[in-house]
Amino acid sequence: MTDAIATQRLRVEPTALQAEAIQLAATAIREGKLVAFPTETVYGLGANAFDATAIARIFAAKGRPFSNPLIVHLATVEHLATVTSEIPDLAQRLLAQFAPGPLTLVLPRHPRVPAIVSAGLSTIAVRIPDHPIAHALLVASDVPIAAPSANRSNYPSPTTADHVVDDLWGRIDIVLDGGATPIGVESTVVDLTTNVPRLLRPGSVSLEQLLTVVPSLDLTLHRVTNSDTSPTASPGMFLKHYAPQAQVLLFQGDRPAVLAHMQARASDLVQSGQRLGLLVTDEDADQFSFLTSQPTVMIAHLGTSKDFTTIAQRLFAALRELDRWGADLILMRAVDPHGLGLAIYDRLFRAAAGQIIQCDS
Ligand code: TXA
Ligand code: MG
Repeated sequence: MTDAIATQRLRVEPTALQAEAIQLAATAIREGKLVAFPTETVYGLGANAFDATAIARIFAAKGRPFSNPLIVHLATVEHLATVTSEIPDLAQRLLAQFAPGPLTLVLPRHPRVPAIVSAGLSTIAVRIPDHPIAHALLVASDVPIAAPSANRSNYPSPTTADHVVDDLWGRIDIVLDGGATPIGVESTVVDLTTNVPRLLRPGSVSLEQLLTVVPSLDLTLHRVTNSDTSPTASPGMFLKHYAPQAQVLLFQGDRPAVLAHMQARASDLVQSGQRLGLLVTDEDADQFSFLTSQPTVMIAHLGTSKDFTTIAQRLFAALRELDRWGADLILMRAVDPHGLGLAIYDRLFRAAAGQIIQCDS
């Protein structure tokens, strides 16, 4: 697909759900067009999940490999049977607890859903988004909507309509602008088609919450993200993902040792003429004040380290902002991988292509 489509950007107030914009977008979906819309996690790039031609256009617009399957979004839990061939009891229990919301389940795919949606797999990833605009679009279009994150492939997910416009203008039909997405990192993905249920991607439904319903959950990913070993074999779980153009250096270890290493590395990089981005929490910001007068340094603030909610909301926008400024490298200290922190840690780990600089005193 070339940049030949007249993209329309339509502002929707989450309180005005009968808006003409929703009707236009729903009609577009039914006509096989591509509509970007906000969800509670990140913006999705949607098409009718039953329309293989429309789905192929999603892959083309994003530059996404056909080997990476899509998530299908549904208006309610009752719609599950339209796209899955079997709904295990565990799925019902998880959805009773977490739907609508940022939890994606991998289940057996119903043959009426074209295989291209799932990259040829016999499974399908489904979720029921908890966002009034996503919900209104699903209801008005009356079809399941397959939607990956609405970014160019391998770029950080979009958390505002501006991000979608930056990546996909001229390549998609409509952007529904519903403001910034409330969570900011993508949904938790759990595979229920394996013998033991398996976490494929940490998200804002935390490991701790999942374990209350699925004590046997396979946490292989947890081990992978906390060491330097290779990625899991799951589709889409490649290490180099969610990455900005700049090289990300992720530091981990005792706080004083990490800060000392980061200060030394930052000084070296500035001296060698590199444009340096720093992603810092409020608690660490003072440690880098010696660099603030440097024109080749840009510091992005994530808020207090005690508030993962705000860090998750700001993370992708901050990475994009540093990229746009032209950072060659971005330095950041890893967060604690607990609760929502695990999802943040995972995105940083991938942005750093799985390289962690371990610092201990
Ligand atoms: O929060 C989200 O999940 C956002 C919003 C738009 O809903 N969507 C999203 O989609 O992040 P995407 O395509 O960027 O990520 C989907 C992930 C990928 O890692 C993909 O490999 C995995 O889900 N996935 C999809 N279908 C799968 C399947 N059948 N089996 C295993 N993994 C699957
Ligand atoms: Mg994505």
